[in-house]
Amino acid sequence: MVAEARTAIARASQALRHADLARRRGCVRDLIGLIVEATGVQVEVGEVCMVGESRGRPRVATEVVGFRCGRTLLMPLGELHGIGPGTPVHPTGAPFRVAVGESVLGRVIDGLGAPVDGREPPQAGAWRHTTAAPPDALSRPRIRDLVGLGVRALDGLVPCGRGQRLGIFAGSGVGKSSLLGMIARSTTAEVNVIALVGERGREVREFIERDLGEALEHSVIVVATSDQPALVRIRAAFTATAIAEYFRDQGRHVMLMMDSVTRFATAQREVGLAIGEPPATRGYTPSVFALLPRLLERAGTSPSGSITGLYTVLVDGDDMNEPIADAVRSMLDGHIVLTRKLAQGGHYPAIDVLQSVSRLIGEVVSPEVHRAAQRVCAALAAYHEKEDLISIGAYQAGSDRVLDSAIAMRPRIEAFLRQPVDQQSTIADAHQELLSLASGLDTEAGASHDTEAGSRQTSRPKGRVPVSSPAGGDPAIPMLQLS
Ligand SMILES: Nc1ncnc2c1ncn2[C@@H]1O[C@H](COP(=O)(O)OP(=O)(O)O)[C@@H](O)[C@H]1O
Ligand SMILES: [Mg+2]
Repeated sequence: MVAEARTAIARASQALRHADLARRRGCVRDLIGLIVEATGVQVEVGEVCMVGESRGRPRVATEVVGFRCGRTLLMPLGELHGIGPGTPVHPTGAPFRVAVGESVLGRVIDGLGAPVDGREPPQAGAWRHTTAAPPDALSRPRIRDLVGLGVRALDGLVPCGRGQRLGIFAGSGVGKSSLLGMIARSTTAEVNVIALVGERGREVREFIERDLGEALEHSVIVVATSDQPALVRIRAAFTATAIAEYFRDQGRHVMLMMDSVTRFATAQREVGLAIGEPPATRGYTPSVFALLPRLLERAGTSPSGSITGLYTVLVDGDDMNEPIADAVRSMLDGHIVLTRKLAQGGHYPAIDVLQSVSRLIGEVVSPEVHRAAQRVCAALAAYHEKEDLISIGAYQAGSDRVLDSAIAMRPRIEAFLRQPVDQQSTIADAHQELLSLASGLDTEAGASHDTEAGSRQTSRPKGRVPVSSPAGGDPAIPMLQLS
């Protein structure tokens, strides 16, 4: 009894010692653009402050984004109404948190966790800070298992490991949302967390009804449309990541999709420019490049579960060297490139498999499948290189056996790569078909091919360098470096 009382007293005094008991209310001094400048508050960057309480209006949630000349810079997480000089500012003492739990499954919420599907707010199983540290580098189990994406071209040629992070690079209207919807419907991951950042309002409903359909049941959608304040768009990306982390901590395998990282970056650019950061590359401020890894590194494996991350990046005019595309590509474990040329030709999903790379292909698929993938890519590359000649009938059959087999197998390879949005496919289907394509290519190339191929120059896709064949490997197959 006495011991229990002692423990209770010790705990209470400990809590008192750490408690922040002084209420430090400040007030608004200036408001320029979207930045509220306040004095009299002692706060930390990232802390949420409530501004307002004047003339019966509700308080506006704001977040501390910086300090200048002894003043605190706040940005709104909602509409800036009823704020004037002297309006009180109440620090909450904590950064932004979001409700997580099983009840968020099947729900559509905004960047701050509030429901936008017209239903009750989801019941909070727990509250989580949206900014969390990524799992310890050394505690992350290596990625070895394959996660099915339900898209043949990807499962076969750009396979994704459980906990891997892939970028989807594409211009607008090339089929990103449709592809994400296809993946969400057929993936073997248990939970989908989908962040729609900076989309047009119309596209959100279209995505949920047309692309996602029944997969909504085991998905959570976090939406911040382009008209929302920049901070809310940034929060949406972090909120979705925090929800994915909650499910990963429960031991689940999560598919986190973010459409798009570019809009997240432009939101942070807005914040950076508003607080006076210098614009660096193409107007993006340095904080954009500091924030990107803090978002992208949080996906991946942890000892309990995994978050597989698919992040879309807008590449205007197919400029893959645009700064955000460049930065994101260097941070992720591979990229999927969708091209307008394929989309315009009615080839959907418009995945350019020769430009797409999964850095973990060697770890997540069997050596046979890996070899078959390389064989099919080599045939595709050979065909592309001579496509112009072939189309005008200037290519003489028989002058290049790799190309001959590629031409003969072209219809089957095309059929493999194309997939209607509503067609389901499994990893087993994709691999079986891929192995059959590779053996078809070998048969077409003929038995004599083995002896001659070693000395022949084989055309190869851009960016991939043939390396020597592994011991025991078929010398007819140009080995590609897939990193
Ligand atoms: N797999 C597909 N099959 C047929 N058409 C498709 C496919 N994917 C995309 N499309 C077409 O492309 C259009 C734009 O696709 P969407 O996914 O909305 O592009 P994005 O999200 O890149 O802007 C769709 O309206 C549809 O007509
Ligand atoms: Mg879209």
